[in-house]
Amino acid sequence: MPKSPGGALLQGFTIERDSSVPIYRQLDASLRRLILDGSLAPGQKLPSTRELAQELGISRITVKNVYEQIIAEGYAQAQTGAGTFVADGLDTEAFPQIHTPRRKDKPSVIEISGRARTIAASKSVARYGETAPFRPGVPALDQFPVKLWNKYMAEAMARDARRSLSYGQVNGNAALRKAIARHLADARGMKVDSERVIITSGAQQAFVLIAFVLLNQGDTVWYENPGHIAGRDVMQIMGANVAAVPVDGEGLDLDHAIRRHQRAALIFTTPSHQQPLGTTMSLGRRLALLSYAQENNTWIIEDDYDSEFRYRGRPLPALSALDSAQRVFYVGTFSKSMFAAMRLGYVVVPPEFAGTFATARNLLGQNSSAVAEEAMARFMEDGRFTEHIRKMRRLYRTRRDVLFESLARECSEFLELQRTDAGMHMVAWLKGGMDDQTAHEALLEAGIDSLPISVYCIEPIGRTALVLGFSGVDERIIPRLVKRLAEALKGLRSAR
Ligand SMILES: Cc1ncc(COP(=O)(O)O)c(C=O)c1O
Repeated sequence: MPKSPGGALLQGFTIERDSSVPIYRQLDASLRRLILDGSLAPGQKLPSTRELAQELGISRITVKNVYEQIIAEGYAQAQTGAGTFVADGLDTEAFPQIHTPRRKDKPSVIEISGRARTIAASKSVARYGETAPFRPGVPALDQFPVKLWNKYMAEAMARDARRSLSYGQVNGNAALRKAIARHLADARGMKVDSERVIITSGAQQAFVLIAFVLLNQGDTVWYENPGHIAGRDVMQIMGANVAAVPVDGEGLDLDHAIRRHQRAALIFTTPSHQQPLGTTMSLGRRLALLSYAQENNTWIIEDDYDSEFRYRGRPLPALSALDSAQRVFYVGTFSKSMFAAMRLGYVVVPPEFAGTFATARNLLGQNSSAVAEEAMARFMEDGRFTEHIRKMRRLYRTRRDVLFESLARECSEFLELQRTDAGMHMVAWLKGGMDDQTAHEALLEAGIDSLPISVYCIEPIGRTALVLGFSGVDERIIPRLVKRLAEALKGLRSAR
């Protein structure tokens, strides 16, 4: 039986506690490096999760998660009862020699261009890979009707192979565009000609298209602060000057932006449910925003990412529904209402942009699958989408209530909770100036996810908070997890 690595090799696992890179990522990178550079040979046994966790002083769950990830990717193999082994037959010779950069070495990519530097600094990749409970924005994936969806996918494949197995339509499946237009009329009060709907591979592709088509180098984009991370970063990458606009009780603070910033070429906003604060933009603010846009030749992105989930009262119609001057690009996604891996979303564009967006979508890599588009069209036509949303809304309301009550019971010393009547997450303000990045990492060590509000910020907002997702966590285990969360925060406070 091959032996697991001894003390010398364990030193190859480098964990820096003061790094901004989460511990699980550091461990993951160390393991891959040791495997690829041959320090861990094919067939060699890895330390047990307990041993490695003890050696490094980190949680065993973190080690377990990382092992599962490298096993899933084929770097290692698990043998029941025997342990975890470096995969046999890995041709590490085929990999370029990997050297470990010394701390002072700058990764060369950031010297290439300003764009490479902005990309390297982005935190938007946080949504990839494994997540632990309370990661914001994760739907109840275990409740998704997989069998039913498979039936729709199989039918979409079989319907008309020459059509469905091809690239599809330049602006996306016509039946899906019509179903979306109907859904927007019913649910969001919008009157939309389906020719204005462009199918994308999610909201993110819609933001990329909008920035690519509309922005010139140096244009100013007013952006909610705090605000959606990946949307902000893509505006920066496209060369925009992204200006932070605070959010008050009525939504994006327009007067502040007018006073402080240059004219906006584009404004990014989440009026239904501000990301992450949860504010609903007031009617007065909506009208003022539209009138600013009309008078200043400004475009608006309305990101309506989770408006399906409202737990009290009727939602205000979309900003877009009031947009008689057609200045708004309305963005929707199925990542929250269905599941992210389907990679489907849409953007409703002013009529004169429909052709340009369809072409740009294809030039930049179409991404969405014509098969998934067809399946989604039929899923919506048969009322399955509305049915699924209705179920999830009931479930998420319960999960929200359980999380709120558990946090109120266990964590009132540390957290000031903000009630939310919509969406999939809540904001818990940290008391006593506790650093949110540190708190986030301490929770991760305890197997609990969150996002620090600081990652949503272009400029500090003067308070710290954790953003906690409730939609993806079984309500029966929430109280237990919250106890663990409280313990982690207690431990952090006594260590301070
Ligand atoms: C504010 C906001 N908009 C949009 C999205 C969805 O992005 P996509 O549709 O690309 O998955 C997210 C996902 O986290 C989000 O938080």
